[in-house]
Amino acid sequence: MTSRLCERLELDQPVIQAPMAGGATTVALVAESSRAGVLGSLGAAYLSAAQIEQAAGAIRERTDRPYAINLFASVPDQPYLGDGARLLALMARYHEQLGLDAPAMPGPQADPLATQIEAVLRARPAVFSFTFGRIAPEVLARCRELGILTVGTATTVREAVALEQDGVDAVVAQGYEAGGHRGTFLDDFDQSLIGTLALVPQVVDAVSVPVIASGGIMDGRGIAAALALGAQAAQMGTAFLSTEESGICDAYKAVLPASRSEQSRITRAFSGRPARGIANAFMRDMDANPSDILPYPLQNALTRPMRNAGGRAGDINVLSLWAGQGAPMARRESAAELVRRLAVETATAQARR
Ligand SMILES: Cc1cc2nc3c(=O)[nH]c(=O)nc-3n(C[C@H](O)[C@H](O)[C@H](O)COP(=O)(O)O)c2cc1C
Repeated sequence: MTSRLCERLELDQPVIQAPMAGGATTVALVAESSRAGVLGSLGAAYLSAAQIEQAAGAIRERTDRPYAINLFASVPDQPYLGDGARLLALMARYHEQLGLDAPAMPGPQADPLATQIEAVLRARPAVFSFTFGRIAPEVLARCRELGILTVGTATTVREAVALEQDGVDAVVAQGYEAGGHRGTFLDDFDQSLIGTLALVPQVVDAVSVPVIASGGIMDGRGIAAALALGAQAAQMGTAFLSTEESGICDAYKAVLPASRSEQSRITRAFSGRPARGIANAFMRDMDANPSDILPYPLQNALTRPMRNAGGRAGDINVLSLWAGQGAPMARRESAAELVRRLAVETATAQARR
């Protein structure tokens, strides 16, 4: 079960608890995952520099094992050609149901990336991972000088090659099955929907850095499959989403094992950027007029009050229920129990002929 990557990160198992921005990857989830022998990852994309440093300090108090901090690369501005009045009317209906003030069109959003990167460099986690695009080679070089391993996210072979050329130390190959936002940054989103089983071996053949498989891996069978495809580790999001330490609300946790894979959709409804989740009322309403959706990150800002209120009320009709196609296999258990189970299952799968 050892690989170059696992040895470097002192992992007992070739597993990465995926970074999940938006509250799922609490300090407790990251620290308990790392303590259990996999790589815990803090999804820090929506955190300020001060919040990143605070979380990093809190993780360090709980464990001195390696962990990762993850950010979103900057995304180019996109024009908006939709019907803003119709969009606001739809949002107003949901705001009213939740007892919120009338929604307003969000103004330009500041890009926090530069200050977030400085916070990561100060926190010096074992790994800095990112998605949505590329990070300047100079930043990757600074990470290397500080002993921070860098990991970029690719959804196509072309993206993996570009990331390797930029100087990353490893690449996450994110398949179509994956929960949450697509990492796509080079080609059309629609053309970059490659299943994990097809994507991972092609990326393994195309780059010389370690490859981490991601998307639809829910148990030891999936981990064994990822390793058989040439990946050095599996990055698992949805499987960790339903753990006790995960920060999502209870109603969301309960939906995961109760859902069916046919309910899984890729949508721009919540953030303006394609992401996979379980279909609900807001997703269906918004996707009826997809051209009205604001580009990322504006749609994300517009829907935030609704999603926050939904989280407080446990209203699954308005939450972004990000989850991969394997969500029905999610279990309610602690992170440590999940990690122990994965070890047994992987060994069993590898012993099977
Ligand atoms: C709720 C949720 C939030 C996510 N947020 C991030 C993120 O902030 N950064 C990132 O690199 N990937 C993020 N992802 C994607 C994961 O890194 C990973 O690609 C995905 O979870 C793998 O598919 P699985 O959910 O089927 O395991 C997120 C996934 C989920 C389910």
